[in-house]
Amino acid sequence: MTKPISKFVCQECGSTFSKWMGQCDVCKAWNCIVEEIVSDVKTTKQAPVPDDFFVSICDGMEKTDYSTSKCHKTISNEVNRVLGGGLIDGAVILLGGPPGIGKSTLLLQILADIKGLDNFVYISAEESIKQVMLRANRLQIYNPQLKIAASSSLQQILQSISSLKHNSIVVIDSIQTISSELIQSPPGSISQVRFCTQELVNFAKNNDVIVIIVGHITKEGAIAGPKTLEHMVDCVLYFEGDKSYDYRILRGEKNRYGPTDEIGVFAMTGTGLEEISNPSAAFLSEHNENVSGVAVFSGIEGTRPILSEIQALVSHTSIAIPRRSSVGFDSNRLAMLVAVLSNRCKINFSNKDVYLNIAGGLRITEPAADLPVIAAIVSSAFQKPLPKGSVFFGEVSLSGEARQSHLAYSRIKEAQKLGFTEIFCSYKTDDFEKSKDVNIRKIKSIRDIIKILGT
Ligand code: TYD
Ligand code: MG
Repeated sequence: MTKPISKFVCQECGSTFSKWMGQCDVCKAWNCIVEEIVSDVKTTKQAPVPDDFFVSICDGMEKTDYSTSKCHKTISNEVNRVLGGGLIDGAVILLGGPPGIGKSTLLLQILADIKGLDNFVYISAEESIKQVMLRANRLQIYNPQLKIAASSSLQQILQSISSLKHNSIVVIDSIQTISSELIQSPPGSISQVRFCTQELVNFAKNNDVIVIIVGHITKEGAIAGPKTLEHMVDCVLYFEGDKSYDYRILRGEKNRYGPTDEIGVFAMTGTGLEEISNPSAAFLSEHNENVSGVAVFSGIEGTRPILSEIQALVSHTSIAIPRRSSVGFDSNRLAMLVAVLSNRCKINFSNKDVYLNIAGGLRITEPAADLPVIAAIVSSAFQKPLPKGSVFFGEVSLSGEARQSHLAYSRIKEAQKLGFTEIFCSYKTDDFEKSKDVNIRKIKSIRDIIKILGT
């Protein structure tokens, strides 16, 4: 019998210690070290190596027909786009997101139909079979090949799916609620999560089965469990959005088979998630041009242009350190842009709070949003609306100069498609074929934005 030993494991970063501590020495997080019992299995047995351990890459190509290694398309174009085409046999996908955002709903809807697959399995460790049935009824999922089960035992799950081969998909909802009897720590602990994921990855690779694992996220928004979890799987997706809005965004964080910069946009309705094929129109549905502090940004998410509304509010404050606060935009970048504005345009922000919000719960990380952010702040500071039909894009350097952004043509075309007529971009943007519908107004420095307000 091996003697069980206990280790103290940080639940944030997975570091192990021999004694309990209040703060993790490695990631500096507080109150995250938990005692876990691990069996100390030490073996000196040599592993046997089969004769065909190494295969010549050329042999492999002759023997295996790689053209049949299929990409299975789901019914949702948005999901396919984020996955880089579809699901590949043997792929392991980790789907993370805050509670109640719609992960289970999305997966159940995907399981309604996937091209070329014969076996569909949904195993819930959070809900009972009856609850899953109720949800499936509500979502009107009629797929006779879809089998559902409720179990939280890894051994039982692996046993039940052991006969599956390629052209099969298994969804595990969620990794934090299943556990293995071989590990003595509770479900959701670092050791359990790591062990269960490894077993599921081995199963997927050995049997060529697609496995989708749902993962809970921490307060900070990362998938709960060790960071190694993200290294173990082929694809990491995040399902996010502000719960006060209907919009939900599926974002790729890592993908071994496709791009990671694409997003899929959905709306949560009474009958499940609906795809939004024209996100720009959806995000601008409540746009009002006659208000100060509002600018439209023509952004790029992956390969797709998406227009969004940036709102700023500049208000007087009597506190010593004025606030720079943002929702959906990096607040350090906001502070930097405010500093550039006050330094280069001599606008006094020392007694002004600056708030920024991206409408519709969208999160913008592109530097090309600098110009519309500055336009919205200036418009709010001077209380004057920006010109009718205007759209902005362009990075701003610390000198206040507008820099060019990639895919300018797609951004302009998208703005034109939605009826915008004045496109403000960097003076370095390439010249495009002149169109009488749009007016491309090139900006050299952020001072030009103050000029367009007529100030
Ligand atoms: P769920 O998929 O259970 O979230 P998660 O698995 O990420 O925790 O979704 C729960 C939310 O979705 C809940 O707040 C209600 C909402 N919802 C709808 O609005 N319409 C629907 O048809 C369904 C099934 C859920
Ligand atoms: Mg769920």
